[in-house]
Amino acid sequence: MSYQLLDRNDPCWCGSGKKYKRCHMEFDEKIREYELRGFIVPDRSLLKLPKDVEGIKKSAVINMAVLDEVGDKIKAGMTTQEIDDIVYNTTVKMGGIPADLHYEGYPKSVCTSVNDQVCHGIPSDKVILQDGDIVNVDCSTILDGYFSDSSRMFCIGNVSPENRRLVEVTKECVEVGIKNVIPWHTLGDMGNAVHQHALQNGYSVVKEIGGHGCGLEFHEDPFVSYVSLPGTEMLMVPGMCFTIEPMVNMGSDEVYEDDRNGWSIYTRDGKPSAQWEVQVLVTEDGCEVLSK
Ligand code: MF3
Ligand code: CO
Repeated sequence: MSYQLLDRNDPCWCGSGKKYKRCHMEFDEKIREYELRGFIVPDRSLLKLPKDVEGIKKSAVINMAVLDEVGDKIKAGMTTQEIDDIVYNTTVKMGGIPADLHYEGYPKSVCTSVNDQVCHGIPSDKVILQDGDIVNVDCSTILDGYFSDSSRMFCIGNVSPENRRLVEVTKECVEVGIKNVIPWHTLGDMGNAVHQHALQNGYSVVKEIGGHGCGLEFHEDPFVSYVSLPGTEMLMVPGMCFTIEPMVNMGSDEVYEDDRNGWSIYTRDGKPSAQWEVQVLVTEDGCEVLSK
């Protein structure tokens, strides 16, 4: 049993200073009931305390400001290395650290994924943004040890109506995800809602790569799939913090990794892919978007 009950009069585990019975006792009992019914429940270490939420929010202020700055400057003719420079400089100026830089050997401060690049596009002074490109800029920040993570799509100049629609529907997929973060429902309920919205629009969703818990570390449990089935996967419990970041493909869901750099993921059929990412906190009645 992962939820060991404290004595009713013990101080609560959350650090509130209140007695357990007046604080998290009922909450823990509720989680135990779900666990006994066979649900996958989060470990206590995945539940953010108020001080953690404050820390993540401060980190996210930087993360979102960096993406705003990219949005102000991005244009045709710019290299993705220039985007990397904006991300590095803006993050550091605001007191943060780009979480991507040196993460598992990743060489840059941000991911820039253009057209058929699904994710983990590596900024380069050889990649020049062209009129008509769609590009995902995926940015993550560390501040005082707290991680924030979100990404946005940018349409460069005259983007074709069909590519623009892919970008818009993918944004809607994230909005559907946000609406379906309902405490005591499962991640599979949320992921399936996202998947259905993509399918209804004639698109597919990448299976192998998904979202993740985020906050005290860059990538925490749980893995968050957007091709999952209702009632499956981890229970969404107030205090959990994770990303909603479906990768939506115009063609088939098949992808491959660029074996020259071991990072960048492309669509197998060469058709475009889009992604937006938000970081959410599960609350008593839904969720709060911490980074977008
Ligand atoms: N920001 C990505 C995510 O959403 C992770 C990028 S890891 C990197 O999870 F090393 F490629 F930067
Ligand atoms: Co992420």
